[in-house]
Amino acid sequence: MVEPVRVRVPAKINLALCVGPERGDGYHNLGTIFHAISLVDEIRAQSEATGQVTVRVKGEGAHQMPEENANLAVRAAKLLRQVHGHQGLGVELKITKQIPVAGGLAGGSADAAGALLACSVLWDLDTAPEDLRLLAAELGSDVAFPLIGGNAVGTGRGEQLMPMLARGCYHWVLAFAHQGLSTPAVFRRFDELGLGGGTELPDRVVEAVSAGDAARLGPLLRNDLQDAALDLRPELGDTLERGLRAGALGGIVSGSGPTCAFLAASESEAMDVAAVLSKAPTVRMVRRAMGPAPGARLLG
Ligand code: C5P
Repeated sequence: MVEPVRVRVPAKINLALCVGPERGDGYHNLGTIFHAISLVDEIRAQSEATGQVTVRVKGEGAHQMPEENANLAVRAAKLLRQVHGHQGLGVELKITKQIPVAGGLAGGSADAAGALLACSVLWDLDTAPEDLRLLAAELGSDVAFPLIGGNAVGTGRGEQLMPMLARGCYHWVLAFAHQGLSTPAVFRRFDELGLGGGTELPDRVVEAVSAGDAARLGPLLRNDLQDAALDLRPELGDTLERGLRAGALGGIVSGSGPTCAFLAASESEAMDVAAVLSKAPTVRMVRRAMGPAPGARLLG
């Protein structure tokens, strides 16, 4: 009996997300700084003798996870065995979630990235890191980043990555909303509102991130999808306002939302912001996290 393989994989925040107009294939070019945080999902992969790929999910938002075949982690496992020409390989995936579903933190993408790594090891496929990244990019725009973690500049539709050398470590407060948001719906509203602009990352943001200067970065955090998310969920404006009034250095809707991410000056400031936000009627749950966090890694 082959031992099960366990992988831990991080959520992401976009420190800057600059989105261009729809490019003709349903996607938008973007320029972004991905930042991995210490909010993680765990994927356990165990051999399944009959060649099936199954998934069981527990933890944060487990009941909202898509059906087996639509589950991105299942698709990841099937894609991996297909490209290696071993259709008979089976796996039982167990996912323990901290990252909310449809939250703008790339939770589903993280699970797919974790499944790729875990299955590659379980099935002894010896997939090169670069090949894993290519498969990840095929599965979704945000799947490659959780494999590398840290800070990275993303271009194209988000799948082209350049690791970024940066100092510092940040304290984040995350405010989960009562209801998820669909990424395609937010991009659609972005188009309807005519929000498409440039994809170039502002120098000031890149400099603040490189320097690891939280006080400078806070007010510069930028998300071009924020107005579209706020248009669909106006109550997120209240969440943002409360977090800022509670002393956060900056606050944004994360990715396509609805999670709001607040940067705090220190751990104790983060605790203060979290305490205020946990009483907000627009907030379902508050979590604190640190970043940057490492990418997908095997647990011993
Ligand atoms: O790549 P992924 O499957 O995660 O994207 C989900 C949806 O989000 C796409 O179908 C598209 O509607 C939208 N999207 C986009 N531009 C991107 C990334 C995603 O329009 N760069």
